[in-house]
Amino acid sequence: MLRLLAVTACLAKVAIATCPDDPEVDLCETTGEETGSGFRSSPWMALLLPLASARPKVATGLALALALAVGAEAVTCGELKDFYKSEQCCGSPTTVLSNPVPGTATCPYNFNKPACSTAEPQTPRDLSTGATGSMVPKAATLTDAQANFLPLVNVHFHLGAEHKSDAYNNDTDAMAYDAASSGRRLASNPRPGFMCPTDTLTDAQMTPYTFQHCKGDVQVGKSYEVHYVHSSAGTDHNASDDMNADLLADGLGGAANGRGLLNPMVVVQGQIYQIVNGGPTVNDLLHGWTVVGHANSVMYSGSTTGQSHDNSVCSPYVITWHVDKDCHQVSPESFDNLCKQMKDMYGMSVDLEPHGSRILVSSTYVVRNEYVVPLA
Ligand SMILES: *[C@@H]1O[C@H](CO)[C@@H](O)[C@H](O)[C@H]1NC(C)=O
Ligand SMILES: *[C@@H]1O[C@H](CO)[C@@H](O)[C@H](O)[C@H]1NC(C)=O
Repeated sequence: MLRLLAVTACLAKVAIATCPDDPEVDLCETTGEETGSGFRSSPWMALLLPLASARPKVATGLALALALAVGAEAVTCGELKDFYKSEQCCGSPTTVLSNPVPGTATCPYNFNKPACSTAEPQTPRDLSTGATGSMVPKAATLTDAQANFLPLVNVHFHLGAEHKSDAYNNDTDAMAYDAASSGRRLASNPRPGFMCPTDTLTDAQMTPYTFQHCKGDVQVGKSYEVHYVHSSAGTDHNASDDMNADLLADGLGGAANGRGLLNPMVVVQGQIYQIVNGGPTVNDLLHGWTVVGHANSVMYSGSTTGQSHDNSVCSPYVITWHVDKDCHQVSPESFDNLCKQMKDMYGMSVDLEPHGSRILVSSTYVVRNEYVVPLA
């Protein structure tokens, strides 16, 4: 009897404060269509197998999306009651549970971010002449054709280039940000990455523009690394039909966990645009980097980026990167239209403003030079 009280008290504590004084009544009363003993329902199974019921969630980061999808599940009193009955506990307090109590199942995935010393090669890599890397990637690097076979699931952009190349390497803004923040992330401001040269731009080319659709720090003269995210977790598998994919969404939840997939193949195409007044008009920046060409591009195996990772906390995701090493000038109207399309065609909002740039990853945690090859 003491044991029974202990068990029920424990269950009651887990469940609620509003149950009747005798929790056992609440747990074991029958509703008419079923009896306590011998009844084995399985709704709790869904709770114990959160992976099976994972739903893609809109999030601004891969880790967040996955954590939401498979993280702790709220358990209702009814579900706890079903579990109690299905375990045939009623009137049998000494029965040993054959399954974990709902909500207490151990997630089979480890969502702790890996230390950089044990992580796979990271992104952004320095792509400048003479830059080096140390790691041998385990994952294969997908090709251009393979990338285009994967549905486009998200487009977002970073303030400045996260990568560095001979063309985009002005770190004045990045150094100023790092000095002001002493390494901490400033919540209000995204960290700037590398910029394309501005010293050659005329005053006319630097004339400010009032953006109607892009939000946050989007300005003439600054550069932005746009990421075209392709994932096998997307739903449009017809590469030539990407224009009609109405599945672009904010964040990387669709890329990381679309349709509940947990190990999708992901390719990100990175292109660097500098906004220049009177610059080239580009009609559709949203549906891929083909509109301005990407002749000077490389491919390599890396990771997700952004300000939540640095040189000690690394990303747990393996991503194929295709990166254009050139700066592409575009008119402010063209760039603003990218945001307009995101909003009007796909209802996106979060990604209408630039994300912060990850600090350039140390050569220790990126692939060796022989694994950075021309895009093929
Ligand atoms: C680099 O960026 C700074 C800050 O925007 C600017 O003053 C400087 O002229 C830039 N240098 C070049 C070579 O564009
Ligand atoms: C893919 O989409 C294109 C453009 O809509 C269409 O012409 C083609 O038939 C589609 N291919 C398949 C295999 O569905």
